[in-house]
Amino acid sequence: MSTLPLPFPRILLGPGPSSVPPRVLEALGRAPLGYLDPELFEALTELQANLRTVFGTTNDFTLALTGTGMAGMESCLANLIEPGDEVLIGVHGFFGGRMAEIAGRYGAKVHRVEAEWGQPLDPVKVQEAASAAGKLKLVGCVHAETSTGVLQPLGPISEIAKAHDALFLVDAVTSLGGHPVEVDEHGVDACYSASQKCMGCPPGLAPITVSERALDVVAARKSTVTSWYYDWKLIGNYWHGDHMYHHTVPVNLLVALQESLRMIVEETPAARYERHREVSEQLMSGLAKMGIRPFAQEGYRLNTLNSAWIPDGVDDIAVRKALLTQYGLEIGGGLGALKGKVWRIGTMGESAQVRHVALLLAALWGTLHG
Ligand SMILES: Cc1ncc(COP(=O)(O)O)c(C=O)c1O
Repeated sequence: MSTLPLPFPRILLGPGPSSVPPRVLEALGRAPLGYLDPELFEALTELQANLRTVFGTTNDFTLALTGTGMAGMESCLANLIEPGDEVLIGVHGFFGGRMAEIAGRYGAKVHRVEAEWGQPLDPVKVQEAASAAGKLKLVGCVHAETSTGVLQPLGPISEIAKAHDALFLVDAVTSLGGHPVEVDEHGVDACYSASQKCMGCPPGLAPITVSERALDVVAARKSTVTSWYYDWKLIGNYWHGDHMYHHTVPVNLLVALQESLRMIVEETPAARYERHREVSEQLMSGLAKMGIRPFAQEGYRLNTLNSAWIPDGVDDIAVRKALLTQYGLEIGGGLGALKGKVWRIGTMGESAQVRHVALLLAALWGTLHG
């Protein structure tokens, strides 16, 4: 067993976090500003404007919550749901399951509509479930299911939500910055993501955007939002208007996200999506040449998270350990029922580069056949 330290920095090609570019690391390492510093507010205003561009929205309430992607999910459900509300959650993987579970914890009567892992939701089934449910407050789904590598088309689900006069909630944790999300075009009322995937920033922030319509629903609540920390009204009072103290925001992370967003805008979102597409294609065609088959349904595959069947007889743990220890490459294993059966290879943000994928393909070949 080698006593050498593991290769550093790692190349993060797992389900997240992804690698962070030097510009963002430099911003992260700057001396902190106070949370009421006028320069920080300038940074936050720029961050919000660029976040609107990436989400594809004009929503005023567009900001970065303190916390990881789960903070985004939890805050949406905490604010939008009151006990007894009927909600419909599309579950086509692990994270849709979490959305349904948390909705239940906030007192919702949850109707789940499931799809087999590896497939997107079937709009016909969603429509049937919505009609059977009756009065719905909210319809939710995961845009990019990280557990399976499936991209869920938002248009058909949005139409169903609108037809039932329900709010439309979308998890864009693994898509924002890597696939177009287009919040306004799809009539999404609340959408959250995470800083550590396609945004190219370390973990710790949850970008979020909320429509006026959803904010009106929250303002008309009969009960107080039970989460004080993630109460949108209180958080909004810090980000907007008088900048009232709510909690000590993670200033360094916010300045780092400001830099990540600058990089996205400089690259242009369209070019960034195309880069993710090209790199994913390079990876999947390289895997195919090694006889490694894709897991997710063709036509619905994410460019940001590539799932593939582990070849028969291959030791999942041993391969991932060899990639990490010998090459400094991280890839992910399967979640839940897919544990030991699939690999999940992230091509997100800074990690989505031809040279990283070329190294991974060579390293994987060497590990499997060397
Ligand atoms: C689709 C999806 N939703 C939510 C989350 C939760 O995000 P976090 O782990 O940053 O809290 C993840 C994390 O991988 C995710 O992939």
